[in-house]
Amino acid sequence: MCGIVGYIGKKRAAPVLIDGLKKLEYRGYDSAGIAVMDGDNMMVIKRCGRVAALDEVRGLSGTIGIGHTRWATHGTPSERNAHPHCYGRIAVVHNGIIENAARLRATCEARGEVFVSDTDSEVAAHIIAHYFETKNDLLLAVHCAAKEFSGSFALAVLAVGEDEIVCARRASPLIVAEGEGEGLVASDIPALAAKGRRAYVLEDGELARLTREKVQIFDADLALRLREPYILNETELSPGKGRYAHFMRKEIEEIPDAVRNSLFLPDMARNSRVCDVLCHAYYFDIVACGTAYHSGLCFACAAERLLRVPTRVHIASEYRYTDPIVPRGTLTIAVSQSGETADTLAAARLARERASSVIAVTNVARSSISRLADVTVLTGAGREVAVAATKSFQAQLATLYSLLAVLAKQKNIPFFPLENFSDLTKETIQKSECIAGWSSYFLDARSVFFLGRGADRCAAMEGSLKLKEITYLPSEGYAAGELKHGTLALVDSRTPVVAIITDPRLIDKTMNAVHEVYARGAKVFLVTCFPELCAQKEVAASVLIPACDPELSPMLSVIPLQLLAYHVALALGNDPDKPRNLAKSVTVE
Ligand code: G6P
Repeated sequence: MCGIVGYIGKKRAAPVLIDGLKKLEYRGYDSAGIAVMDGDNMMVIKRCGRVAALDEVRGLSGTIGIGHTRWATHGTPSERNAHPHCYGRIAVVHNGIIENAARLRATCEARGEVFVSDTDSEVAAHIIAHYFETKNDLLLAVHCAAKEFSGSFALAVLAVGEDEIVCARRASPLIVAEGEGEGLVASDIPALAAKGRRAYVLEDGELARLTREKVQIFDADLALRLREPYILNETELSPGKGRYAHFMRKEIEEIPDAVRNSLFLPDMARNSRVCDVLCHAYYFDIVACGTAYHSGLCFACAAERLLRVPTRVHIASEYRYTDPIVPRGTLTIAVSQSGETADTLAAARLARERASSVIAVTNVARSSISRLADVTVLTGAGREVAVAATKSFQAQLATLYSLLAVLAKQKNIPFFPLENFSDLTKETIQKSECIAGWSSYFLDARSVFFLGRGADRCAAMEGSLKLKEITYLPSEGYAAGELKHGTLALVDSRTPVVAIITDPRLIDKTMNAVHEVYARGAKVFLVTCFPELCAQKEVAASVLIPACDPELSPMLSVIPLQLLAYHVALALGNDPDKPRNLAKSVTVE
């Protein structure tokens, strides 16, 4: 959700900024820009579309600069609204939403100041410039301005004639780093990663000053803060696509490793804090968004059915405004790949305020969610670059199911051997190869339905989300039995239906829905572990996946659905890695 970078050092700034922005493109890619200073000359270049459009200005001179890749909140994607925003001697890049921007803008306009964009971020440039005129010190100016902003911000600021970058953070992530004779700032580690660089994650309310000699961090009262650095290493560099055309395809192939690295076997948990927190829980609440929310739904099926623990799954953006009831003995599990999703963070914070213990399940160590939780369990998906989540979903399931395995062991309840899942996911990927052949049936679909019951319904919802995200086809994941209560009216020959059937108890029930849609002219595609269903006349094509405990089957059944979305996106000519309008890390409400 917008990525920002800044550099001051010995190298030419433009290529460092542009390369950094490319590593942050997952955060937004509707426009990009840089401001580079050479002596007292500030050059600002903005382009619509991908960061690569800035490549033509890599040759700019100047060893200090800031950059931004945008995901529009206020104002359309356009060069005019792209960052950096400038006013007076100030240039600003901003991630977040300044919620009182309209009021602040009116104040500036009353002073006779003219705005050139529709953004809340330009307001930040004006307010900082105002204070800079009177204080003549960039750190002081940013400090005073930050006090006037409500909402969220990560800011990096340059001033003509000042050989420094000043940063400030509230709610939106920001990391500063220092190397030999250089200082850097970015929204995320990969844009900073170089072996040996010392990094510091800014906390809410903190500011930082980057010069060629050092990086200094200040608290909200401008007192200097001393902090142990975290030494960056090469594993944090951005991965490449290898032999694959797209990150999404590569990341699907990485699912078996992601699962293996995310399992948390009961013996490993013995006497751990996780075990302690789990065993004191009478209820589970999940808070999450997007794909992580669907992982939570899958977890709930298994937790209630296999362990009889009452479990509620909340969309984080709803939870935070519902005055939630949090009974004593509730354990809240906040699931977030990035660990930075604003709504999930707010929901987890609220759960804590209501005396719930909080476990964070996240893919990013040192992320905001792990700093907020009582306990963090890291998923081992490795870095996921494609905006549509794939391997992180199975990694989250591996970790969440592992928590249940720990609890099952405590309660002496037999549990499916999770260590089999890595091989089973591999087999599922192989068996799903035929999915590429399905895509032609989806190209002129009016809408698509994914149907299932129980855990299969959770899989259907994730399959539908994947399809929407990267093909832009309207689609719904639906409870198979509910279809006839209204939605069946939408089904005709231009409505492909994907049914998921992995539970022997529900075969006939879900097949009823298959008969109903087939009778209305829909082509039916099937994902199942029951070979006999593949031969039924209603089924146009099928993928036979391996069997496992039906409550845990989304671990496998979602894989063909991820591949289906990928192949349909390709057939439609879409870039599956960078779907329109979406960003991987949503750090605004
Ligand atoms: C965005 C991403 C989704 C992701 C969701 C939650 O919408 O595009 O892929 O599932 O955020 O992200 P999180 O990092 O909290 O799992």
